[in-house]
Amino acid sequence: MELIHEIDPCRLAITNLRRKGKRVGLVPTMGALHTGHLSLVRTARDMCDAVAVSIFVNPTQFSPGEDYDAYPKTMESDLEACRLEGVDFVFSPSVIAMYPGDADQTSVHVAGITEGLCGASRPGHFDGVTTVVNKLFNIIPADVAYFGEKDYQQLMVIKRMVDDLNLPIEIVGCPIVREQDGLAMSSRNAYLSGQQREQALCLSRSLMAATEEIASGVVDIDGLCDGIREAILGAGPVEIDYVEIVDAFTLTPLREFDRPARICLAVRIGRCRLIDNVGVDVPL
Ligand code: PAJ
Repeated sequence: MELIHEIDPCRLAITNLRRKGKRVGLVPTMGALHTGHLSLVRTARDMCDAVAVSIFVNPTQFSPGEDYDAYPKTMESDLEACRLEGVDFVFSPSVIAMYPGDADQTSVHVAGITEGLCGASRPGHFDGVTTVVNKLFNIIPADVAYFGEKDYQQLMVIKRMVDDLNLPIEIVGCPIVREQDGLAMSSRNAYLSGQQREQALCLSRSLMAATEEIASGVVDIDGLCDGIREAILGAGPVEIDYVEIVDAFTLTPLREFDRPARICLAVRIGRCRLIDNVGVDVPL
C-alpha cells in the first residue's frame, strides 16, 4: 500500500492506473476508521481494480466552536486497517497542502438541497464538504466514489454537485453499518460516556418503531415525527436538532407518503452531535 501526502504524486499515480485501463474507486474519509468506513472500502474493492482512501480532517466543514480540534485521530490503526482491506493508496495531505495561502479561496456551493436538515444548523458545513470533495475528485481522478447513507444529506448533496457540474465520476451510496444494538457507527460515538452510549440507542429504536408504524398503515407524518421526538426526549437529557420526514431525493419535507421518503434526525447528547436516518418503503 502506498501512502501519499502530496497532491502531484497522487494525481500521477491514479492517472497512470487509469491509463492502463484500471477502474479506480475512491473512499473519502476523515479517518478514525471504523467498520462503517471499511464497508465502503470493501464495496470499492469488489467493484474496482484499485482502491484509494483519503484521510483528511477537513477544517472548512467545521464551524467555529465545533469539534475540529478534538476530532479523533488514529492514523496508525487507520493505515493498518486499510492495509488489511487491500487498499492500494492512502492519500493523507496536510492542511497546508490542501489549502495553501490564507486568502479567501474558491468554494463550491450546492444550492437548495443544502438548506434544510443539517444545513440549517451547521451554516457553511456543506460548502466545506463540497469544496473538499471536489478538490479530492480533481486530485484523485477516480472512476467511482463511495459515500455512506449514514450522512444521507451529504450523499444527496454530492450526487447533486456531480450532476450539476458534470463531474466525470460515478457516486455510489452504501448502506448504514450499525453496532449490534442498532447504534449507527460513527467516529464521534467515541465522545459518548457509557450512559450516553446507552441513551443514544433511542435514535435507531425510534426510527425503527416509526418504520414499523408506517408499514402497519400509519400515514400521519406530523404524528410520526412527534412520536420519535417523544421517544428521544424520554430517553434522557438531549437537545433535538431536527426530526423530519423528507422526500428521499430533494430532501424537502413530505406532506404525504406519495413518493420515496427518508426519516432523518439529528440530536445532541452531551457534547456529541449524532445523526441517523432510515428509508421508508412507501405503501403506494
Ligand atoms: P467521515 O465522517 O469520515 O465519513 C466518511 C464516509 O464514511 C462518509 O461517506 C460516511 O457517510 C461514511 N460512513 C460513516 N459512518 C458510516 C456508517 N456507520 N455506515 C456507512 N457509512 C458510513 O463524511 C465525511 O467523513 C466527510 O464529510 C468527507 C466526505 C470525507 C469530506 O470531508
